[in-house]
Amino acid sequence: MNLPCHNDPIAAIIASHQLIPGALLPILHAIQDELRFIPPEAIGPIASALNLSRAEVHGVISFYHYFLTSPPPAHQIHICCAEACQSMGSERLMQHAKSTGDFSVHPVYCLGLCANSPAMMIDDQLHARVTLDKFDRLTEMLGDQS
Ligand code: FES
Repeated sequence: MNLPCHNDPIAAIIASHQLIPGALLPILHAIQDELRFIPPEAIGPIASALNLSRAEVHGVISFYHYFLTSPPPAHQIHICCAEACQSMGSERLMQHAKSTGDFSVHPVYCLGLCANSPAMMIDDQLHARVTLDKFDRLTEMLGDQS
């Protein structure tokens, strides 16, 4: 009998979920919650625990865009692309952000700072009146925090 190794988070998650009906999605969610993505080496153990083929597990992972197969960037940046921010240059800010750093950049539509646009959010911190220089200063500081 194979005892789950609890130093291995993937094995521990599989062991604690595999008897749940429809265990595949709960296992995938739990692994991503724990590791921030689903490493390729998780596919084999999941497939054998659930009596599925590796292709079936891989198919489910790739069907749902929510599941990541490599570590996400350490920081998430949301730039407001709604009207007030657009009129104050958020499009340029978006292009600048996409070309500069190792973070994922997403558009959002109004952060409630329209009077101080353009606005953006780095992780859960709001920032107003973001010029390209201010963006560079803020993101340089991220390097010290990741
Ligand atoms: S339009 Fe950008 S914060 Fe409202």
